[in-house]
Amino acid sequence: MSVVKNVYRPITAEILDVVTETPTIKTFTVGPKEDIGFKAGEFMELTVPGLGEAPFTPSSSPSVKDKIDFTIMNVGKVTDAIHHMDKGATVGVRGPFGAGYPLDAWKGKEILIVGGGVGGAPLRALFLALVERLDDFKRILYCYGAKTPEDLVYKELLMNKWPKLDPKKIEMRVTVDEGDSSWKGNVGVVTTVVKDLGMDLANSIGVVCGPPVMMKFGTFSLVELGFPHNAIYLSMEKNMSCGIGKCGHCMLGEFMVCQDGPVMTYDKVKDKPAIWE
Ligand SMILES: Cc1cc2nc3c(=O)[nH]c(=O)nc-3n(C[C@H](O)[C@H](O)[C@H](O)COP(=O)(O)OP(=O)(O)OC[C@H]3O[C@@H](n4cnc5c(N)ncnc54)[C@H](O)[C@@H]3O)c2cc1C
Ligand code: FES
Repeated sequence: MSVVKNVYRPITAEILDVVTETPTIKTFTVGPKEDIGFKAGEFMELTVPGLGEAPFTPSSSPSVKDKIDFTIMNVGKVTDAIHHMDKGATVGVRGPFGAGYPLDAWKGKEILIVGGGVGGAPLRALFLALVERLDDFKRILYCYGAKTPEDLVYKELLMNKWPKLDPKKIEMRVTVDEGDSSWKGNVGVVTTVVKDLGMDLANSIGVVCGPPVMMKFGTFSLVELGFPHNAIYLSMEKNMSCGIGKCGHCMLGEFMVCQDGPVMTYDKVKDKPAIWE
């Protein structure tokens, strides 16, 4: 007899590690008591017992089954409570929910990733998943921006210190809005490094995730460069509650972002109201 999964029941997960990424962002590695598989781009609801829950996208590789990373910016009630937790504390995890990145459909393509701020979370899961099957893709160009060097998440990965990087197939371009005396890299918003791509746009995919203003101008820059609108993948962050298509909080036109997204192509959402809010 097959067991029907109860989508409302959070699975208990112990916090195994905490990494402070920036003054407002931490990455929590949690160990769920039951296996929870996910695909890059799908999201989960994290529950703080007695307080509430909020949606987050795992930032670790989907191929790691016993642990999941969540990279969380402290913006309010639930996120502040999680930021005050340490190793050994427990949270609840429901999910995964929604639609992630369709990696199989991208075989043979060049992939441009444009991200900023805590939008790096789903992008790290995506990047790690792409790297694990690098032979399937022609090239990955990862452009990431933060306000200052202190605000860069995943510094090791972004600053090319990761030993597995193959410069012929993977290129990282990192930029900050404002440098400091130690910063030797590009200064400017992320769109300033989204140029001279050397990509065959008819055979390329663009992926954008970040704060609303970055999503908007990042997407417009890909449109201007000539990316087909159905080849631009956005990660939509509408307010969510149930995560399973029941409450209607996440409506975007005729779409329910918790089910039809959060990963959606630009051609589907470009005419919907308030897509950048
Ligand atoms: C599919 C999805 C994936 C997400 N992934 C991540 C992630 O990986 N890392 C991360 O740090 N954040 C992520 N978020 C945003 C995160 O869910 C919100 O920051 C969180 O819900 C805020 O909860 P809170 O109780 O701390 O804040 P609240 O006290 O509820 O509110 C604080 C502020 O955050 C805004 N806010 C509240 N809920 C949301 C929401 N669901 N989406 C956007 N803004 C909200 C409010 O308007 C308010 O300005 C994701 C959101 C969605 C929809
Ligand atoms: S979050 Fe409830 S319907 Fe989408």
